[in-house]
Amino acid sequence: MLETLSKAEPDKILSLIALYRDDPRHGKVDLGVGVYKDAAGATPIMRAVREAEKRLYASQTTKSYLGMAGDLAFNRAVSQLALGDAAPAERVSAVQTPGGSGALRVLGELLHAANPAAAVWLPDPSWSNHEQLLGRAGLRLARYPYVDASGALQFEAMREALRQAPRGDVVLLHGCCHNPTGVDLSATQWRATGELLRERELLPLVDLAYQGFGDGLAEDAAGLRGLLTQVPELVVAASCSKNFSVYRDRVGAAIVVARNAAQSETAYSQLMAVARTLYSMPPDHGAAAVSMALSDPELRADWEAELTAMRERMQSLRRGLAEALRKATNSARFDFLAEGKGMFSRLGVSLEQVERLRHESAVYMVDDSRINVAGLREEGLDELARKIAAVL
Ligand code: LMR
Repeated sequence: MLETLSKAEPDKILSLIALYRDDPRHGKVDLGVGVYKDAAGATPIMRAVREAEKRLYASQTTKSYLGMAGDLAFNRAVSQLALGDAAPAERVSAVQTPGGSGALRVLGELLHAANPAAAVWLPDPSWSNHEQLLGRAGLRLARYPYVDASGALQFEAMREALRQAPRGDVVLLHGCCHNPTGVDLSATQWRATGELLRERELLPLVDLAYQGFGDGLAEDAAGLRGLLTQVPELVVAASCSKNFSVYRDRVGAAIVVARNAAQSETAYSQLMAVARTLYSMPPDHGAAAVSMALSDPELRADWEAELTAMRERMQSLRRGLAEALRKATNSARFDFLAEGKGMFSRLGVSLEQVERLRHESAVYMVDDSRINVAGLREEGLDELARKIAAVL
């Protein structure tokens, strides 16, 4: 029977992990997978998470089952982190999920069950896994324009496309730090989008995977929180992979803000039912550490301080690379890099140029020329800029 299978296409982003690892060249540069790296090129465990893990080790007495919703204190803490006080608690329900990807899949199943005819509208471009995760949940896929070939936001075209979406469809919005472009909506554009969603009765699915990596924890959730004053219901896929640096522990949450307490309770029961059929229960360890880091005032302050330092480092690397490329190309072509939000921007070079950078210079980025800014090294910016300039 297995002979009927054909080989799956390698994942465009994750396959870079092995390619980079197996490259023996000295001085190779990894700008591929979205993982934060410090000045030494390491992805350390954050101090507050490490301390929480120590306390958990000392205090945890059992590894018995927690249940389909996972850690309830974590669910409350992450909902509060994302939503602030923008939604009354009785309208909010959340389940812990294996990462933000798990949250997307759980929410995809929930929305498909709620409206089997619904399409989900994804920005073009979007994170490449959105299509598979939500498509396999049964949702039809549609696209709205997001940036043009030069990388500039196409807000009017986006609105025009969403105006055509039938009532009851789902619109995926990146909460902040758009992946792969680093181009976010302004406050005014968020408001206009919320207005359109309300008018057209479209349901927002907000993917919040980089809260704290753009402008700050509250700033990065402002668009989402504003939507809550405009639309009656929405869902959020939250990830802690990046802002708590707990990638392999798989920590995320599927959050639903329903119209009222009764619908929230029903949605919660459905979220648990979906979890039960996909993976039964989420893994505990990372979420327990995150929950402790969020609720203990001392750990929380230290986490926020470390997150701020990470964000500021990425902002400074963006400015540094833009400056180095200005010198290397004698043009303002890459100035936009300094303005981008979060980890990612697209250089705007061709696939052939991306491949040349990989083969000739051991510089790894995603095929669409997405770079992970956090993979840059301060001392390597000029050399990298020269390598990029050499393939233009
Ligand atoms: C990325 O976009 O690089 C990250 O979200 C990692 C992944 O799973 O693709």
